[in-house]
Amino acid sequence: MSAMARAQTDRVAAFELPEDHPGFTDPAYRARRAAIAEVGRAHHRGDPIADVEYTPEEDEVWRVVSHELRRKHERYACRAYREGARAVTLPTERVHGLTGFHIEPVPGLVPTRQFYGALAERTFLSTQYIRHHSVPFYTPEPDIVHEIIGHANMLGNPVFADLYELAGQASLRAADRDEALEQFSRVFWFTLEFGVVWEDGELRAYGAGLLSSYGEIEEFRSAEIRPWDLEQMGTLDYDITRYQPVLFAAASFDQMVTDLGEFFAAFG
Ligand SMILES: [Fe+2]
Repeated sequence: MSAMARAQTDRVAAFELPEDHPGFTDPAYRARRAAIAEVGRAHHRGDPIADVEYTPEEDEVWRVVSHELRRKHERYACRAYREGARAVTLPTERVHGLTGFHIEPVPGLVPTRQFYGALAERTFLSTQYIRHHSVPFYTPEPDIVHEIIGHANMLGNPVFADLYELAGQASLRAADRDEALEQFSRVFWFTLEFGVVWEDGELRAYGAGLLSSYGEIEEFRSAEIRPWDLEQMGTLDYDITRYQPVLFAAASFDQMVTDLGEFFAAFG
């Protein structure tokens, strides 16, 4: 997810996994990370996207995680996400062949301004590596499961796609002011990454971070649920290494879309 992206940009760009990363002691995994990054590095925006030939082991990770998440989405994901996911029709058996929707590969995590700025061009910069096979339901960093099942499925719905574009435009207007960009990033975090919404009397998730997390998707209803408050979101600290203890709920999906859209449109 994008905040992680910011925190880990330098480290991951150099392929130096932290010691507590599940793949740290696996030389084969580290070599795969470097090889997959080369595919992203060689990519020029707008060109056809070269396929990464995923290994059977990687396909198995994708298969297991995507099947499980799909099941959970029926219970926990908001309607607009489920509609988007149906439109995108991701393969659930193999990672291979995931292209389009202005998803552009990058070798590793990219700087904040670049990641958000690309959204203004309706382009989502996505990592391509997949989490380590020893812990298929956990990743300490955004991987292709998070990017594609979390974000790309959202982008299959035009309402979300418009919100992402507005967010990108807002980030560009704030790009030369650290404080404003920080506020923007926090709002992005508490909405498009970890947002929840009341729908048919139930709390449902629309944030990509929740929707791509095997564990957290079942736990978010136990978080402290605060009423929608963009001002508070923009100043509240968060810890990317744990389940989010505080989430903000929109009273309805339409309210979220309207308020968040207006916020982004006016931002900067
Ligand atoms: Fe993300």
